[in-house]
Amino acid sequence: MPPVTVLFVDDDRGSLDLLCVAARARHLEPFTATSITTAMAAARSQAFDVALVDLSLGSESGLDAIRRLKEIAPDLEIVAVSGTASLASAIQSFDLAAFAFVQKPVDVDHLFATVNRAVERRRLIWEMQVINAIGEDLRRSLDQRELIDSTLRRLMTVLGVDIGGARLRNPVTGDYEMVMIGPPAVHEVWGPATPLVPRPSDTVVATGKAFVTGDLHALSPADVAARIPVRATLNVPMFAGGELIGVLSIGAAEPNRFSDDDQRLVTTIASHLAVAVQNARLHSYARVGKQQWEATFDAISDLIAVFDGQGRLLRGNLALAAHLGRPVTSLRNATCEEVGLCGPLHPDCGVASAAAAGGCVRAEVTAANGQIFSVTTCPVRDIADGSAVVQIAKNVTQEIQSARRLRQMSEELATANSRLVATVDRLKTTQAQLLQAEKLSAIGQLVAGVAHELNNPLTSVIGYAQLVEDELVRGAPEDQRPSADLAVDVRRIAEESERAARIVRNLLAFARRQTAERAPQDLAELVSRVVALRSYEFRLNGIEVETAFDEALPHVMADGGHLQQALLNLVLNAEQAMRGRTPRRLRFGAQFDRAACAVELTVSDTGHGIAEDTLRRIFDPFFTTRDVGEGTGLGLSICYGIVRDHGGQIRVQSRVGIGTTFSLLLPSRMAAALVRQTVLVAHGDQTERDYLAAIFGGWGHRVQVADSADAARAQLRAGGIDAVFLDRAFLTGDCDAWRAARKADGDRASVVLLTSADETGVIADGAEAAAVLPPPFDLRAVQAALRAVSKECV
Ligand SMILES: Nc1ncnc2c1ncn2[C@@H]1O[C@H](COP(=O)(O)OP(=O)(O)OP(=O)(O)O)[C@@H](O)[C@H]1O
Ligand SMILES: [Mg+2]
Repeated sequence: MPPVTVLFVDDDRGSLDLLCVAARARHLEPFTATSITTAMAAARSQAFDVALVDLSLGSESGLDAIRRLKEIAPDLEIVAVSGTASLASAIQSFDLAAFAFVQKPVDVDHLFATVNRAVERRRLIWEMQVINAIGEDLRRSLDQRELIDSTLRRLMTVLGVDIGGARLRNPVTGDYEMVMIGPPAVHEVWGPATPLVPRPSDTVVATGKAFVTGDLHALSPADVAARIPVRATLNVPMFAGGELIGVLSIGAAEPNRFSDDDQRLVTTIASHLAVAVQNARLHSYARVGKQQWEATFDAISDLIAVFDGQGRLLRGNLALAAHLGRPVTSLRNATCEEVGLCGPLHPDCGVASAAAAGGCVRAEVTAANGQIFSVTTCPVRDIADGSAVVQIAKNVTQEIQSARRLRQMSEELATANSRLVATVDRLKTTQAQLLQAEKLSAIGQLVAGVAHELNNPLTSVIGYAQLVEDELVRGAPEDQRPSADLAVDVRRIAEESERAARIVRNLLAFARRQTAERAPQDLAELVSRVVALRSYEFRLNGIEVETAFDEALPHVMADGGHLQQALLNLVLNAEQAMRGRTPRRLRFGAQFDRAACAVELTVSDTGHGIAEDTLRRIFDPFFTTRDVGEGTGLGLSICYGIVRDHGGQIRVQSRVGIGTTFSLLLPSRMAAALVRQTVLVAHGDQTERDYLAAIFGGWGHRVQVADSADAARAQLRAGGIDAVFLDRAFLTGDCDAWRAARKADGDRASVVLLTSADETGVIADGAEAAAVLPPPFDLRAVQAALRAVSKECV
C-alpha cells in the first residue's frame, strides 16, 4: 500500500504545523487546509486516506466541511476534532459518517492512534475492494493464463509495483513452470530454469510457505544485481484443496517494499487464484474429455443411443443418425419406438424397465430395413437427470447371413453325404445280389449239364443194381444162391446210387430246370406238411415246434413243391444247428406285411447261430461248414433261387449261441383288394427283369416284359399298359421314337424310371417320370412306386 495521506482541516495554523510534524514522525504524509474551500480543493485534486476536521473553522462549520468532503470522497475516513465537547456535535458528526470524535485539547498520541485505526479500517475496506475486484475477474474467465494475468495486473496496480510473475505445477511432469513474468528484463535473468540468481519462488516450492526478500541485490553477484530491476520480492504459495499448484510473486524496484499487510493480502488473493486456476484446469479437462468423448462417440460405427428413464433419446451418435436417415441434431427426444432398437426384448420399448432391471441384456433385433443388429442394452446410473439406458447396436447382418449360409451349406452337404452313403450302400447290396445271381446262374448252368449227364448213368446203375439184387434174391436156384454178404453189398450199391441220384436231383433243383407251376398256396398248410415230414425226427431229437400265424393270411402264388423244398432245407439246417443243444425249439411265424404287400414267413431255431464272417457266405453255392459227405452246401442256394423266382426276398438274422431266424418275404395280395394292372417290365438285364416280373406276378398283376428299347416301345404302342418300369439305359438316343410311342399310347402308361436315385427322372421326351426306382429292387420300394403311379388303389 502506498504511503498513508492525511488531510488536516483547521483554521489554526499553529495546530496544523504541529500536526504535520507529528504526522511525518509517524510515516504519514500530511496535507493541510484552513477553510472548507481549500479542503474541498485539496480533496478534489487527490485522494486522501484520512481527514482530521476541526468542527469550529472560524466562521464556517466543521460539520459542513465533513458533509461536503464525504460528498466528494465517500470512502474517506474522517476524524472530527472539537474543543466544545458538545454531545450534540459529536452525534452530528457520527451522523455524517465520521469515523471518530476527538475532544480538544488533543493528546497527540491518542489522536494518531485514532488516525491509525482509521487508516487500518480504510486499508481493510481497500483490501476488501481489491479482493472483491479480483474475485470478479476470477469469476469471469475459465482460462488459467487469463486468470493469472488479470490477477497479477490488478495486484501490481493496487500495490503500486510493476514486477510480477507466476509459476504453475505441470500436472503431468510435476515441474513448476514459469507461466508469466514481467517485465522482460526480469524474465531474462530470473525466469529461466537455471537462474543466475536464486529464485525466491523455489524456496516457496520447497517449503510451501510465503517467502519475502527485502533486497534481492544483496543476495546476488554484483554484475547480475546490476541487471536485475527487482529488489524486494513477495512470494506466496498457491494452494488448492491442500495441494500446492503454484507460486505467485510480486516484486518492487526498491528494497523492503512489502509489509505484513501486503503479504496477507497477496496470500489471500493467491489462494483465491489457486482455486480459480484449479477450476479452470478441471473445466479444461472436462471440456477436452467431452470433446474426445464426443469424437469417439461419433467415430464408432455401431449405433449408440442414450435414453432417459422415460424412453426419450438424450443422445445418438452419427451412425445412428445415418441409420435413421435424420440429421444428428434432430435426434434428441426421439422415442425409442422411432429408434427401433428394442425389438422383442422390450416389445413395448420398455427401456425404463431395462434401467430398473439392472445388468446388461443382449438381443438380436431386425430393423425395418431388414438389417439385423445385436443390441446390448445397459442401465446407466448416477447421471444428473435420473436413470438412463444406453443401447449399442452392432450390425451383424453379414455375419448372420454368412452363418445361415454356412449352416445351410453344411446341412446340404450332410444331406448329400447321407444320400451318397445310402447310394453306396444300395450299390453294395445290388452288387452282392447281382454277384449272387450270377454265381447261381453260372454254377446252375454247369450243374445242370453235369447233373443231366450223371442222371442217365445213375439211372442205369440203380436199375442194374436192382436187377442183380432181384436175381440174387429170387431168380437163382436155391443151391446157387449167393452168400448173404454179396446180397448186402449189392444192396449197398443200390442205396449209394440212390443217394447219388438224390444229390443229382438236388443239383437239378438248384439249377431250376424244373418248371415252376404257380398256384395259390396256403403257407400254413405248407408248413404243416413240412413239419409232418420231419415229425419223426423232431420227436426223436426232442425238438419242440411252435407256430404263430396271422389269421386270414392271403395265399401266395407259388410252386408248392419248390416252396416246400426251400422250407425243408431251412428246417434241415435248423435241426443240424440244434443238434446236442438245449433248448431245441423250432418256431414258424407268418404275417402279412402291408407295405411290401407280401407274406413274411419266418423259421427260427435255438441252434448254435452263425458267426458274422460265415453269415456273408451262407447263400453261396457249395459253401458249407459241414464235414465232407455231410452237406453239399447247396441247401440255402436253392432256397435263395426259389425265393427269387417267386419275386421274394430271403434274409437271415443270427446270434451266435442264441439261434438263427430266416425270413422269406413272398409277394402276395389280399384278394379283395386286388386291382389288376398291366405292367410292362422293360429292362436289359434278365435277372432284374425276371425278378421284377416275378414280383408283379406274385401280386397278381398282368406282366409283360421287354428286353430292349424297341420291344418296349412296340408294346407301349400296342396299348393297354398301365405302368412301365423302364430301364433308364433304354432312354439313350432316339427321343422322337419314345415321344411317338408315348403319343400312340395316349400317354396312358405311367413311367417308373429304373435308375439310380441321384439321376433325374426326366424321360427322353422331356416329360417327368411319375416315379424313380433305384436298385436294389426291394419289395417295399417297388410297391411304393407302383402305388405312386396307379390311378386306382392297388
Ligand atoms: N439254421 C442254421 N444255423 C446255423 N448255421 C446254419 C443254419 N443254416 C445254414 N447254416 C450254415 O450255412 C451253411 C450252408 O448251408 P446250406 O444249407 O447251404 O448247406 P449245408 O447245409 O452245409 O449243406 P446241404 O444243405 O447241401 O446239405 C451250413 O453249412 C451252415 O454252416
Ligand atoms: Mg443245408
